[in-house]
Amino acid sequence: MNKSILVTGKNGQLGCSLQKILIEISQNLNLSLNNFVFASRDEIDLSKQNSISKFFSNKQFSAIVNCAAFTSVDKAESDFKLAEKINHLAVAQLAKIAKNQNIPLIHISTDYVFQGQQSKLYIETDETNPINTYGLTKLNGEKAVISSGCNGAIIRTSWLHSEFGHNFVKTMLELGKKKDNINVVFDQIGSPTYASNLAKVVLTMLSNQRTIEVMNSQLNIYHFSDDGYCSWYDFAKAIFELSNINCHVNPIETKNYYTHAERPLCNVMKKDKIKQHIPDLVIPHWKDALNKCLKEIQKSKV
Ligand SMILES: NC(=O)c1ccc[n+]([C@@H]2O[C@H](COP(=O)([O-])OP(=O)(O)OC[C@H]3O[C@@H](n4cnc5c(N)ncnc54)[C@H](OP(=O)(O)O)[C@@H]3O)[C@@H](O)[C@H]2O)c1
Repeated sequence: MNKSILVTGKNGQLGCSLQKILIEISQNLNLSLNNFVFASRDEIDLSKQNSISKFFSNKQFSAIVNCAAFTSVDKAESDFKLAEKINHLAVAQLAKIAKNQNIPLIHISTDYVFQGQQSKLYIETDETNPINTYGLTKLNGEKAVISSGCNGAIIRTSWLHSEFGHNFVKTMLELGKKKDNINVVFDQIGSPTYASNLAKVVLTMLSNQRTIEVMNSQLNIYHFSDDGYCSWYDFAKAIFELSNINCHVNPIETKNYYTHAERPLCNVMKKDKIKQHIPDLVIPHWKDALNKCLKEIQKSKV
């Protein structure tokens, strides 16, 4: 019997997007939901070493995709211990299991491992220097994967949004309904990424013979986001324009918008490496992807 692929973070944005894409385009991918085990926090609690050991004690998989994470950037500042357990120690344990079972690990990381002060696009080998606790714990997770000696991929992504869970797009839609105008920072730049597009990349990597061979024999770090970049202000304006919401967006500076965690000012990642490794990869522009996401949000309300 063929072994299944384990996906953690079943109910998160990426976990849900993977399940949706698997149902929608499984024929093109040669993969279906039946090839996967999606695990929620109830089945495998990544903050508890024992829960992870117990989960794997009688199970073997053909690959692990780690979509679970402590993703609240501001809360991480006051709960370093929990963020470290989930984003670092659990990842170290998963990487060790992948190494022992001789299977690839696809681990999702973040552009927040970078400081955001560079005037050019970040490449995978650029120096990391996180400026907040979330970024630090995610970087510790990456380092643990590398030092475990397991094979697979670390995929850094940015500004995820989707029809699932909580994200900036859904927050703006809610605010736009209630307010005539809102303040949004214009001096933080990044690349919004529709979680479905990242899910397609992950599934392509798991179904394409060439990428499977690469993942079985080496560990690579990749950057993936939707194409182009913008500020949170541009992003908010696009959300309202595409949704015909009449809410004025006032551009404000980061220094006038207090958050617990500091954010990188300019994190835009170069995606040449992932384009080279995945044949025929088409990366949509963030605005087109946003439009798709808004339509899916609309559909899910009907
Ligand atoms: N969101 C972004 O803007 C962004 C940007 C860059 C990179 N990333 C990375 O992309 C990946 C996916 O992000 P996402 O937006 O899909 O995240 P998300 O929607 O916040 O989902 C996170 C998932 O992790 C699970 N989780 C949290 N604590 C757990 C624990 N102790 N044990 C087991 N599972 C636990 C959550 O379970 P529950 O559903 O039970 O809470 C949830 O399913 C993460 O690695 C994240 O760091 C995200």
